Amino acid sequence: MDSIRARRNVRQYTDQPITREDLERILDAGRRAPSANNWQPWNFVVVTDRAALVELAKAWEMGGRHIARSAATVAFVVKEPEDARQRDLVMYDLGQVTANIMLAAADLGIGSGHSAVRDQAQAQRVLGFPAGYFAAFMVGLGYPADRPLRPLRRPNRRSLDEVVHWDHW
Ligand SMILES: Cc1cc2nc3c(=O)[nH]c(=O)nc-3n(C[C@H](O)[C@H](O)[C@H](O)COP(=O)(O)O)c2cc1C
Repeated sequence: MDSIRARRNVRQYTDQPITREDLERILDAGRRAPSANNWQPWNFVVVTDRAALVELAKAWEMGGRHIARSAATVAFVVKEPEDARQRDLVMYDLGQVTANIMLAAADLGIGSGHSAVRDQAQAQRVLGFPAGYFAAFMVGLGYPADRPLRPLRRPNRRSLDEVVHWDHW
């Protein structure tokens, strides 16, 4: 619960690298996520090289600038879905992977920030995934440069009363 309360999108990172042990712990949290029929459609490409991160950020110039500054970025690479239903399932599953990864990172005091991927050709150049696959999303990771992760007392969220309907809408 502390990690859930402390996690927020972090887009400014210090120069401190993330140890291999911590990265593996975070990735292990990701691969433990549930998925439809346990099909586990995900592949994680982990980038830590600064020059590669700068190039990877160009895959989404508007919303991916923090990727260039991250200590490490995990790209979620999946097979091109066969139809709209499979695409929905992939996206649902990747959402759960993302949450696990972000919470495991927050538990270690490591910040995280989503990024979409717009330019697939650019992502493929940097990540080297085979034809028939695409990079669905990225999560940048790094120690927060703004302020440490602490449980947020008043998160920027709709209230529980507004969101929840007990028994009936
Ligand atoms: C599907 C999805 C895509 C997102 N894409 C981006 C993105 O491309 N760039 C970015 O900076 N943040 C992105 N975000 C982060 C959201 O803006 C963020 O979750 C929201 O503003 C709430 O911020 P908070 O978690 O810090 O409260 C994305 C989040 C989700 C769930």
